[in-house]
Amino acid sequence: MHMHHREVAGPRVVPVTFILEDPRSLTGSDQATHELKAAQGEHLLELALDNGINIEHACGGVCACSTCHVYIEKGMTELSESTEAEDDRVEEAPGLQANSRLSCQCEVEGDGPIVVRVPAWNRNAVKEVPH
Ligand code: FES
Repeated sequence: MHMHHREVAGPRVVPVTFILEDPRSLTGSDQATHELKAAQGEHLLELALDNGINIEHACGGVCACSTCHVYIEKGMTELSESTEAEDDRVEEAPGLQANSRLSCQCEVEGDGPIVVRVPAWNRNAVKEVPH
């Protein structure tokens, strides 16, 4: 993988750690912890997908499913606040917790650090969606 080193100018870079409960099904490897860098304004789902972490996103990131459900272990206040639509939707996610969010609705706003846990059933709970 080619890494770009960012200089001080330009958008700030925010450290985001992803912890995968079932790394093999999400990435094809056994590496559970991924230390990533987000740009401010980026969504957690986008960031994960861009880095080869295939979080389910059955609705394509428009808050119409709950398959992109994650837990924010650290840095909830560094993310955009959840909307009523997200709150309603996330309640349908299996394993709902107080720190549950829909990753497609979480925009990186603060300086971090942010720690995101992706539950093991993220892929297992989902049937193939026909196109
Ligand atoms: S991808 Fe459907 S709600 Fe996030």
